[in-house]
Amino acid sequence: MLFLLTSLAYANLPSQAEVVMADVFSRQATSLNGQWHVIVDPYDTGYFDYRRQPYDEAAKITGGYAPDLQAKDKTDLIEYNFETSPTLKVPGDWNSQDSKLFYYEGSVWYRTKFDVKETGPDRRWFLYFGAANYEADVYVNGTKLGKHIGGFTPFAYEITGLTRSQGNSLVVRVNNNRHPEAVPTVNTDWWNYGGLTRDVLLVETPATYIANFCVRLKPGTTNTIEARVQLDGPERQQPVKINFPALKLAAELTPNGEGLAQGELAATDLRLWSPEHPLLNNVEISAGTDTLKDRVGFRTIAARGRDILLNGRKVFLRGICIHEENPLRGARAWSEEDARLLLNWARDLGCNFVRLAHYPHNEHMARLADEMGIMCWEEIPVYWTIQWTNPATAANAKQQLADLIARDQNRASVVVWSVANETPVSDARTAFLKSLVDEARSLDGSRLISAAMEVHADTNDPARKIVDDPFGQYTDLCSFNEYTGWYDGLPEKIDRISWSVKYDKPVVISEFGADAKQDMHGDTETRFSEEYQAEVYRRTLPMLERIPGFSGCTPWILCDFRSPRRQLPGVQNGWNLKGVISRQGRKKMAFAVLKNYYNEKAKADAAQ
Ligand code: GCU
Repeated sequence: MLFLLTSLAYANLPSQAEVVMADVFSRQATSLNGQWHVIVDPYDTGYFDYRRQPYDEAAKITGGYAPDLQAKDKTDLIEYNFETSPTLKVPGDWNSQDSKLFYYEGSVWYRTKFDVKETGPDRRWFLYFGAANYEADVYVNGTKLGKHIGGFTPFAYEITGLTRSQGNSLVVRVNNNRHPEAVPTVNTDWWNYGGLTRDVLLVETPATYIANFCVRLKPGTTNTIEARVQLDGPERQQPVKINFPALKLAAELTPNGEGLAQGELAATDLRLWSPEHPLLNNVEISAGTDTLKDRVGFRTIAARGRDILLNGRKVFLRGICIHEENPLRGARAWSEEDARLLLNWARDLGCNFVRLAHYPHNEHMARLADEMGIMCWEEIPVYWTIQWTNPATAANAKQQLADLIARDQNRASVVVWSVANETPVSDARTAFLKSLVDEARSLDGSRLISAAMEVHADTNDPARKIVDDPFGQYTDLCSFNEYTGWYDGLPEKIDRISWSVKYDKPVVISEFGADAKQDMHGDTETRFSEEYQAEVYRRTLPMLERIPGFSGCTPWILCDFRSPRRQLPGVQNGWNLKGVISRQGRKKMAFAVLKNYYNEKAKADAAQ
């Protein structure tokens, strides 16, 4: 997963390896957030010449927008100028910032300038991006650093030796065109927000730095902490110190030739993290002059028979699904404030669990969930029907999974890795998903693996629901989406449902729900009324209790969200209305139904 770097200084480098940069928020970094100049480029004129040859395949990039040129004098022919171009805010999607870009899919070129304050010899410099949707080509001072594919995972490039002290040009081509071979593919039920959607940072490190680390309870124990630390740089075999000041625990590890240090710390009487007690421990990891500080919780999570065990104790997952969108702004969420808004609503609902759908959310979500004591299900956008037999698609999905795990492996709140949502059963699909499960287990065997599977009805009895997806044999949870009462019949049908679930595993219902327009009222059979939605909740919850092994649910969804698939005028207007909270942030009737149910569940859990 980790790539070793050496500092380079060529006119145009072959696509550099991306680097993993853990814990970037505890590093010495300069934020490059702010207003960036942009060029909206529907014909990709800045990327391709008129023969559709990419400019950045040349040894030295001379054409297109990457060189960030300006006319030197009246005779100079330069047909763009970032300096006099409009600006957009970074982080942020472009769709919600400019009504002309609301539906825009294509390329937008971003440019900012930055200085590099040299603080001493042997320093290294990196550019870190929290995410850019969907693909990003990154250039510094006209040199191509690389191309990142995947709209929801972090990436970073080393720029040591490529900069000057002042006025460095950072140009990023961001393109959010949808492609059949992509992950996600062309069809989703969420808005295809484009742009530099998360933090951009200039990061400074010593010549040898801590590229990544993982500290957690050794699986199967509650008294042994295992640590893995990856160094990058010339001194990658220097000792690594790990220190938990409050626990009076410390160790010194010796890295191998690859700079990987591994070890264990005996930790008696460790107090464990849980939603009731979200205990976090300060940890310091240092090697040479590089130090990372973080706050980590220790907990165990396991499936045993049909139960989910948190710290060895049976737990019910009182959950809700969340999209990474701030409904009040009608925009992609990215900040700690956005995360706090969403998680406080989930907390208010009585949740101890959230499903972050259908792609990796920003890092603030899991970090805040750690602090607030909310367990998380994290997912990669293998959504609906993607190209199962396309090796590039498989590699892309695997990379997104690896990037997510590398970023959030130290978050106690993250208890489930999900590799897919509502994917059609076929051998090619099941093999594709199986390889993702294997990848997740090899990268992190300490968490539950799942996916949102589909249900089908018994052909002889439409009220008999069957869960026998062959993929279910590979997961720890048996999770599926269930929409009786909305996509299948009216609310009254819910009472007649019976189940045949093939797997002797904990059942977590990953979605159920119905659309309701805030303040639209009618009887419980009037679609889009709050009464209808509340009725679906009122009937579904007791129905789910009839499923053997029912161990949790994440109804669809916390808030109304933008979707290009929801076109009912005067009702949906481009919004999926299945939120229990509206786009104005107001609670619908169903909110109280679910909250009451979770209150009862919490009492029952506490009483066991
Ligand atoms: C699907 C899907 C969601 C979608 C929801 C809906 O199950 O997973 O992404 O938004 O149903 O139809 O509202």
